[in-house]
Amino acid sequence: MSKRIKGMAVALSFVLLAAVFAAGCGQQNTVRRSDKIKVGVTIYDQYDTFLSQYMECFTKELEADEEVEVVVYNASQSQQTQNSQVKKMIEDGCDILCVNLVDRTDPTTVIDAAKKADVPIVFFNRELVEGDIGRWNKLFYVGADAAQSGILEGELAASTCLSDKTIDRNGDGKIQYIVLEGEAGHQDAIVRTEYSVDTLVQKGVEVDKLGYAIANWNRAQAQTKVAQFIENYHDSIELIMSNNDDMALGAIDAYEAAGMIKSEWPAIFGIDGTTVGLEAVRDDKMTGTVYNDKEGQAHALYRLTTTIARGGSIEELSDEFEVTDGKYIRLDYEKITATNINKYLKVK
Ligand code: BGC
Ligand code: CA
Repeated sequence: MSKRIKGMAVALSFVLLAAVFAAGCGQQNTVRRSDKIKVGVTIYDQYDTFLSQYMECFTKELEADEEVEVVVYNASQSQQTQNSQVKKMIEDGCDILCVNLVDRTDPTTVIDAAKKADVPIVFFNRELVEGDIGRWNKLFYVGADAAQSGILEGELAASTCLSDKTIDRNGDGKIQYIVLEGEAGHQDAIVRTEYSVDTLVQKGVEVDKLGYAIANWNRAQAQTKVAQFIENYHDSIELIMSNNDDMALGAIDAYEAAGMIKSEWPAIFGIDGTTVGLEAVRDDKMTGTVYNDKEGQAHALYRLTTTIARGGSIEELSDEFEVTDGKYIRLDYEKITATNINKYLKVK
């Protein structure tokens, strides 16, 4: 919580800083606008745990660069609000935009406005469909391969189920499981759900699906949904596969609130490796998670944004990152369990 507030404060200080620079530019000629790159950022929801930590990393990088000014907007889960923010950032003279789309299937207004004004866009975290990113050669995407995260989560769960026979609490040779899904329509929710369960089965785990719930990446919503599952199934849930850490933490909250002892809990897996997620792995409440490399993605976003804004090309970065189709930079996910948790708690 305090980290998020700190993150928001950093974001806010950037807005103020940008305003100060803008005022300075208007009044005197000592600060020349053209000396600096003006970056406009809009995120779908500043209260998203993963994204607020991601933005903290990103703004830290920008803050260290004296050649950059930045404004950060929160779209509060409204695409209409985000469309207006994009128009405003263009009017305010941003040289490039970083857009975390609210609705990944509805980027038309954003793309049209940017194209008309010849302002490039680097989309991040919420991946638009190929047809849309192909609409202009100044549209890019920084993110990660959703399928890889699902596969790694499935592998983690499979190795736990295959090596620890106590997971199959009722001893029927099958693993009774539920899936907690992120927002309907989000590429990470759709793809992670599919690949995590497929991988589990491919690795030889026999499964029995008790149900699934859409909890929109949200801890409180997941807690409510899992509380309902606990009422229906009590201690018969043996595995929970969550599309992200926050929903896995909501599941943990539900087991704690129900007063169930640890031996009655399922094995719980998440994806992200947020600070709270890592702490849950350290404290043996979450069995494992998959690192969604926010530091790496924030760094790639910073490098790509400043390179393009200076008239460079994405290919210039191919020594540093894997560049695909002249448009995409994707960072790898990594598995995290109790055995390597310290590396993530310390380094990241
Ligand atoms: C993360 C989620 C986050 C979502 C927001 C995903 O990549 O795993 O935690 O809520 O992005 O778009
Ligand atoms: Ca069983």
